[in-house]
Amino acid sequence: MNRRNGLMAFLLSCALPAAALAQAPAAPTDFPRKPIALVVPFAAGGPTDVVARTMAPLMGAVLGQSVVVENRVGAGGTLAASHVAKSAPDGHTIFIHHNGMATAPALYRKLQFDPLKDFEYISQAIDVPMTLVARKDLPPNGLRELVPYLKANASKINVAHAGLGAVSHLCSLMFRQAIGVDMQTVPYQGTGPALNALLGGQVDILCDQTTNTTQHIKAGTLKNYGVTTLNRIGALPDSPTLDEQGLKGFQVVVWHGIYAPKGTPQPVIAKLNAAVRAALKDPSFQQRVKDLGGDVVPESKQTPEGLRTWLTAEIDRWSPVIKSAGAFAD
Ligand code: MLT
Repeated sequence: MNRRNGLMAFLLSCALPAAALAQAPAAPTDFPRKPIALVVPFAAGGPTDVVARTMAPLMGAVLGQSVVVENRVGAGGTLAASHVAKSAPDGHTIFIHHNGMATAPALYRKLQFDPLKDFEYISQAIDVPMTLVARKDLPPNGLRELVPYLKANASKINVAHAGLGAVSHLCSLMFRQAIGVDMQTVPYQGTGPALNALLGGQVDILCDQTTNTTQHIKAGTLKNYGVTTLNRIGALPDSPTLDEQGLKGFQVVVWHGIYAPKGTPQPVIAKLNAAVRAALKDPSFQQRVKDLGGDVVPESKQTPEGLRTWLTAEIDRWSPVIKSAGAFAD
């Protein structure tokens, strides 16, 4: 064997086991060995919590262990994300988060985690529109009356949200920019408590997901000024969109992803992904999501790669917008 062939033979002998490994079936795993914590970055009773608590028992049934929702609130969801990023990568701590995972790197200059380096990706879950709602005795009816009312009363109006970087915050920011009115904002630890404050009349306006607002809009306990999709939605067919009422192109859809700490073994991720997909396929889950105005994502997004690709695109989309606006949360 000459020197060149010898080198080839050596490289091939290194490459063959690697190729064989890549094709090998996933190693068997004893996961899960104990209950799994599903960390929610906002308060109990809010929209993220509702998704988590609806999925948890369905996932638990597939995994043969309880999936226990754990609310870790604060800093627009970033405290929970850094907690999960530092948790043991064994699959017993997982995380649900929304668009905030993509906007945090631009909004927070001192972030304790990197969404693209510190996590494994399990699956996307559901997409949810938002609604612009107010306490039921706010005088204006419809967006056309609301805008001049807000302009005339800006200093007296309080807008609730779930912390800097929460989607309720981003949506209200977009709305205030769209109508050119600056109003005082009041942060809560989730839109669960923010909505309670709205129902109690302690704040005036909130932009929140339909998973939290639909039942109150239907019951007439909140005033609804419109949905944030470009087309009307099945759960609230009588609700106009903000776009059709004159805020052209106003669109916010909240997407949800499920994550695990970086280094969680792939066979464990595969088991968690199968449990998420089973929950998303469950007819009772699908009906509940539909009734609350959401959509289960297509199967192409119910994969680790689907979530990672989506998150990367969303970070690329939002970072320049947020940075050029000079909007920082810290
Ligand atoms: C929540 O679950 O409380 C909301 O998703 C928070 C938010 O508005 O981002």
